[in-house]
Amino acid sequence: MVEGVVSRKRDHIRICVEEDVDFKKKTTWLEYVELVHNPLPELNVDDIVLEAKFLEKNFNYPIIIEAMTGGVPEALEINSNLARAASELNIPLGLGSQRAGIYNPDLRQTYRIVRDIAPDIFVIGNIGGVQLAVEGVELAEKAVEMVNADALAIHLNSLQEQIQVGGTATFRGVVKAIEKTVERLSVPVIVKEVGCGIPMKVAKILESIGVKAIDVAGAGGTNWTLIEKIRAEFSGDTEKKMLAEVFLEWGIPTAASVIEVASTVKIDVVASGGVRTGLDIAKSISIGASMAGIARPLLKPAQENVQSILEYLMRLIKELKTAMYLVGCRNIFELKNAEKVLTGPLLEWCKQRSLI
Ligand SMILES: Cc1cc2nc3c(=O)[nH]c(=O)nc-3n(C[C@H](O)[C@H](O)[C@H](O)COP(=O)(O)O)c2cc1C
Repeated sequence: MVEGVVSRKRDHIRICVEEDVDFKKKTTWLEYVELVHNPLPELNVDDIVLEAKFLEKNFNYPIIIEAMTGGVPEALEINSNLARAASELNIPLGLGSQRAGIYNPDLRQTYRIVRDIAPDIFVIGNIGGVQLAVEGVELAEKAVEMVNADALAIHLNSLQEQIQVGGTATFRGVVKAIEKTVERLSVPVIVKEVGCGIPMKVAKILESIGVKAIDVAGAGGTNWTLIEKIRAEFSGDTEKKMLAEVFLEWGIPTAASVIEVASTVKIDVVASGGVRTGLDIAKSISIGASMAGIARPLLKPAQENVQSILEYLMRLIKELKTAMYLVGCRNIFELKNAEKVLTGPLLEWCKQRSLI
């Protein structure tokens, strides 16, 4: 089993670095959030403070390095570099699904390395909702214990499981499994998608069972249906490939999902899925997110060195500061209340879903 997982994770890293696997037609819809320009901001760029609160902890920036990898030898270098960057910037670091490390002690160091490098950073462990339902809450406990995680993310990937060669589309019992996990763990539980978004109905259920944050991972960024389609093609599975083609553009765009979730629950919301600029981050916060998460754009820099990751993130931070300056917001709290206009399909979505 672990053999298969290792080769799948290796495929994912290779495809994500070598191919353009963002959504092709659907976007995040963040382009339909217009922040209102303020030509008289009455502040200097240097006055702006980017500190953010997430899960009752303070971070220097409202940015999360999203779950990516672990469980393959090459993840050692990637996670080391990501940990160094997270430590340098004081931002949370998500790990990839830890199941491979739970079943194979030889692979554990590819996750644990983040603690060797940066003992004090905020580490988010990761496990699949389906695997949790099948294998039990112990899986979650072992994941947290493995890296002394500060929070555990449970990922929901219903479409990916259905398309993936060897995937397990068995989602019955996942809510109960999440609830038990919340009860059993001493650290907060985050629930995340992987690129199809989370709607208000699900957000309500998750909040009611004690989940402490929702990471929408909406459509418009990395497209897992496309990635699994490429894998299906490679392995000659025509049936999976054809199924993937029909659902290539499936999912709730990130901006729509953030508004759905943020207007429904009081817990923290993370905007992710196609967040690619500091302006995207500013817009995400203005529509209700506490933090914005970024995954695939950091993968290649993470294979290179910590400097490449920092260069990428510092560019985004500069863009975020610029956006805040242009709307006259001194801090993240003010940005949450920045003046904005929703347009196009996002406005239509919000009307039909009675969100405005
Ligand atoms: C190489 C790679 C591996 C990933 N592995 C996981 C994973 O193990 N668990 C998880 O919850 N999400 C995983 N994700 C999904 C991301 O955390 C994120 O939700 C998604 O890629 C959307 O963000 P993006 O558009 O910025 O890439 C992975 C993403 C990438 C690029």
